[in-house]
Amino acid sequence: MRPTDDWTRASNGEFVDVHRELVPYSRALELLETVEREFNVKEYCSGSNAGGRWLFQIFNEEFVRELAHVINTALKETGNEGPILEVMGGDGRLSDFLIQWIEKKIIVTDAKSERYNIAYPKHIERIDALEAIDRHNPSLVIVCWEPQWSMTAFDIVESRVPVVWIGNPDKCGHPDLFDIPHLRRRTRYALSRHDSFAAREFRTDIFLFNCDISWFEN
Ligand SMILES: C[S@@+](CC[C@H](N)C(=O)[O-])C[C@H]1O[C@@H](n2cnc3c(N)ncnc32)[C@H](O)[C@@H]1O
Repeated sequence: MRPTDDWTRASNGEFVDVHRELVPYSRALELLETVEREFNVKEYCSGSNAGGRWLFQIFNEEFVRELAHVINTALKETGNEGPILEVMGGDGRLSDFLIQWIEKKIIVTDAKSERYNIAYPKHIERIDALEAIDRHNPSLVIVCWEPQWSMTAFDIVESRVPVVWIGNPDKCGHPDLFDIPHLRRRTRYALSRHDSFAAREFRTDIFLFNCDISWFEN
């Protein structure tokens, strides 16, 4: 019998959904280490969790706070008007968590591809990423886990607004994207479905395009 104070399990015995609420990094890491040891990270992240949720980047409080700092800095430095636009936003959890530390409006969009079993909320606008940029004229664009081999981020970067790209550069988007000048954040708090938790092999990061290194020097 499993002890009832095991916070990693829901009442039905499944592992809890790490995105049900925003948890600290240490808690997300502990949960994923347990999932890796006792179950299977890929299955857990492919809907086999108490929320039935698909997970790509695993958001946690420190990661989202750092992201908010990066975004607020870029917006202050550019003085850009217009909303923040998240494209390919999936179930919208990133922006749900981010909004508390951001002063601008965030619009979340996604093409709602049938290739994924993501539970897309109704309020997320179904629209292609490039059309969304034309429609919303954003001050900054967020892209998290662009599908592998997609070249959409090239066109997004060409729009010249700051682009915050999150993911595993070996398995998301197109590798040639990283031939374009960019900054790599090297955050300590990036966790994802591609990581090996006990081995501490973390494969994702925050990458910035159309941003200047001097903005982040203080
Ligand atoms: C791997 S999922 C990532 C979802 C979410 N960003 C996350 O991290 O949980 C990729 C998403 O990109 C969307 N997508 C793929 N190509 C797109 C495009 N050209 N325009 C808009 N959305 C797109 C898919 O519908 C899918 O929801």
